[in-house]
Formats: sequence, structure tokens, C-alpha cells
Amino acid sequence: MSPLLEVTNLSVAYGAIEAVRDVSFSVAEGQIVSLIGSNGAGKTTTLRTISGLLRPKSGTVRFEDQPIEKLPAHTILGRGIAHCPEGRRLFGRMTVEENLHLGAYVRKDNGVAADMSRVYDLFPVLGQRRHQKAGLFSGGEQQMLAIGRAMMSKPRLLMLDEPSMGLSPIMTQRIFDTIRELQSQGTTILLVEQNALAALALSDRGYVVDLGRTTLEGPGRDLLADQRVRAAYLGEG
Ligand SMILES: Nc1ncnc2c1ncn2[C@@H]1O[C@H](COP(=O)(O)OP(=O)(O)O)[C@@H](O)[C@H]1O
Ligand SMILES: [Mg+2]
Repeated sequence: MSPLLEVTNLSVAYGAIEAVRDVSFSVAEGQIVSLIGSNGAGKTTTLRTISGLLRPKSGTVRFEDQPIEKLPAHTILGRGIAHCPEGRRLFGRMTVEENLHLGAYVRKDNGVAADMSRVYDLFPVLGQRRHQKAGLFSGGEQQMLAIGRAMMSKPRLLMLDEPSMGLSPIMTQRIFDTIRELQSQGTTILLVEQNALAALALSDRGYVVDLGRTTLEGPGRDLLADQRVRAAYLGEG
């Protein structure tokens, strides 16, 4: 069976700056796959290209066996890829409920109310505060809302860019528990993290991105045990 998402020899540049060079990886249906790597490695650029926010210089992105790298972002969202961006990007002056509705804007079915309840089941604090403005929330609550908003498009593939950034260890654990729960409910996850330890512990497969290239890959627990990964990303050696 072909993978749900397949990125092959992807290169992306900002003018003369080559941010992603020849990145290849794949995500099988039902998996959690993580891209790890230091700041500036090209992880965010890779996700933004899959979402259709950036155009690759070369390479292909296939989703459900169709090329998508030339499609506009709203079409890609409509096909079933949701992107929870780095830094959350919520609308601070809008309420929880309004932010969640924005996540559902590409949908044409009438399951939006049911999915909103599902988000509130996942994160009860959002339900309790549904009429409050998002800008008043803590970092952890904002991350929950950003994930909830991405879930509102009912994605087959959910891409999360640095969901643990700036969060306390307890809140980080809460977010990682949620990612596992979303997987168990049938969502495939592509996770980008600088927190390599937590990400790999959760992942079926991991890829190390370094200076725009994928340099190592394997099952999450194998990468966790790899001396090169431990030295470079877990502060050992
Ligand atoms: N909008 C931009 N314009 C120019 N260069 C950028 C832009 N965004 C990112 N870059 C550069 O591209 C490289 C990869 O960045 P990024 O994809 O954000 O990495 P990561 O998410 O792994 O930290 C870095 O060298 C960064 O400085
Ligand atoms: Mg980034």
C-alpha cells in the first residue's frame, strides 16, 4: 500500500536562500511521524510547502497518491491536510468558538457541531471558556485551541509545528498525550519538534532534518537509541 503522504526530493528556497534541499520522507496511514532537527533546519518550511503556502523549487508531494505540490492551500486543506502552525497563530480577539469555526470553513458537510463537541471532549477547558477571547489564554490553552482549530477541518493528516514550544513540562506532556489520543481516534500525524526526546518516544517513525536535508531515519525508538541523535539533539556525548 502506498503511503498517505510521500515527499520526494523536495527543495524549497526563499530567493537565494535554500531552506530545504532534497528532503524525502513518507507518512503511512495511522502513523505518527516526526521530523526533528535544530533551529533553522528547514522543518517549518517543509510543512508550509506541504500545505501549499510555499512552492517547491523541485521535488514532489503526493497525498493519497495524487501530486499536490501545485495546488492552492485551500484545496490542499479541503483534500484533508490540516496544519497547526508554529507559534499557534490564533485570532486573539476572537472567542474560542469563533476560532474553532474558522478551522471548519472549508467543510461542506453538517458535522461541524459534532466535531466542536469532540474538541471540547478532548479539551474540557476550551468548552468551559468557549465564549472567552483566545488572547486571554495561557500558552498551553492556546496550543489546545490551535490543535482544536486544525481538527475542525476533519483532517486525514494533521501536521503540528512545534506544539510544545514554550510550554511547561506538564503542559507538554498533556499535548503529547493528546497527539497519541488523536492517533488512536484515526488521525495520521506529522509532527515537527525541537523536543526530540518526547517526539521520538511517541513516533512510529522519525526523520532527522539537518541543514535542509533528511540525514537519518528509522522507527522512533531506534533513533532515540542512536548515538548520533543522542549527541546532537539530546545533549549527550
Ligand atoms: N521567510 C523567510 N525568508 C527567508 N529565509 C527564511 C524564511 N523563513 C525561514 N528562512 C530560512 O530558512 C531556513 C529554514 O528555516 P525553517 O524552515 O524555519 O527551519 P526550522 O523550522 O527547522 O527551524 C533558515 O535558514 C531560515 O533562516
Ligand atoms: Mg520551525
